[in-house]
Amino acid sequence: MPYPVRFICGTFTIHRDLEAELARFVGCESSLTYVSCWNANEGLCPAILGEQDIVISDQLNHASIIDSIRLAKTITKCQTAVYKHSDMADLAAKLKAATGARRRLIFTDGIFSMEGDIARLPDIVALARQWDAVVAVDDSHATGVLGNTGRGTAEHFGLLGQVDIITSTLGKALGGAAGGFTAGPAALTDYLTQRSRPQLFSNALPPTVAGSALAAVKHLERHPELITRLRENAKYFRGQLSALGFKPLPGDTPIVPVILGETAKAIQLSELLLAEGVFVTGFGYPIVPQGHARVRCQLSAAHTRDDLDFALRAFRKVGRKIGLI
Ligand SMILES: Cc1ncc(COP(=O)(O)O)c(C=O)c1O
Repeated sequence: MPYPVRFICGTFTIHRDLEAELARFVGCESSLTYVSCWNANEGLCPAILGEQDIVISDQLNHASIIDSIRLAKTITKCQTAVYKHSDMADLAAKLKAATGARRRLIFTDGIFSMEGDIARLPDIVALARQWDAVVAVDDSHATGVLGNTGRGTAEHFGLLGQVDIITSTLGKALGGAAGGFTAGPAALTDYLTQRSRPQLFSNALPPTVAGSALAAVKHLERHPELITRLRENAKYFRGQLSALGFKPLPGDTPIVPVILGETAKAIQLSELLLAEGVFVTGFGYPIVPQGHARVRCQLSAAHTRDDLDFALRAFRKVGRKIGLI
């Protein structure tokens, strides 16, 4: 059976059930699923921004946010500004300069993909209140990860219910490999149903994927110990890597980047680790700036202490071999 776009005949009960559950989980009134978070982001800015509005974006935001903003700028001629990564003084300056705009939208990642650091959400929310702005957070790396029960960046900071718009993926911690959503006030998701082009002109999230995503959220709610284990794994791995002499970027998230500088070095480390049975991808320019190539370790709640020690032994062997430690 074909699964066409939502508004024709593609909306199934499982979509509604999943959307209600996701909204509750992330602390919003309503949510709307897409086939990916890329689509959720892409479908957001062009739908809600007009010529008199401005979107103010963190310099290190994910490519899907950047493309959403580029699309909005082209289609609706909205204004755009970029603030230096997590620099609240710069964000405040950009907000101050935008007082003439009809609507100000601050868009940030919750956890930044390449650095593994967390957005300064309490400051962002406070600035948004001060300058009458709307806050949108892409929580793709934080859903199922941050907060005591995995509800994301808002829960981590005790701000559940205080973020206006949350986009996220079903394909990372929620395990489904596909699917995304936008959560916020019901008026927003109703509006997106009518105006968000990937929502209108692309097929619905397959009901099978909606079913598995719903099961994943329920599983997580029944097993908050998974979040605890994930946090402990990240802490242990980061600590042990540092003890070996590596310099992972500091942080509290399961994204643990080790900066190496040259792309060739990152690729070499990644290949040698793979030969030892450890899969850690190297990233170079243009995914990260020139001179900031890295390997990005990603921890999971499914890793046992033995798995982590196995990986650490490989890091020690390879790190010594190529003179990194
Ligand atoms: C921050 C962020 N937003 C959006 C996406 C896109 O998610 P999806 O794979 O569901 O399209 C990703 C995927 O890497 C991401 O890291």
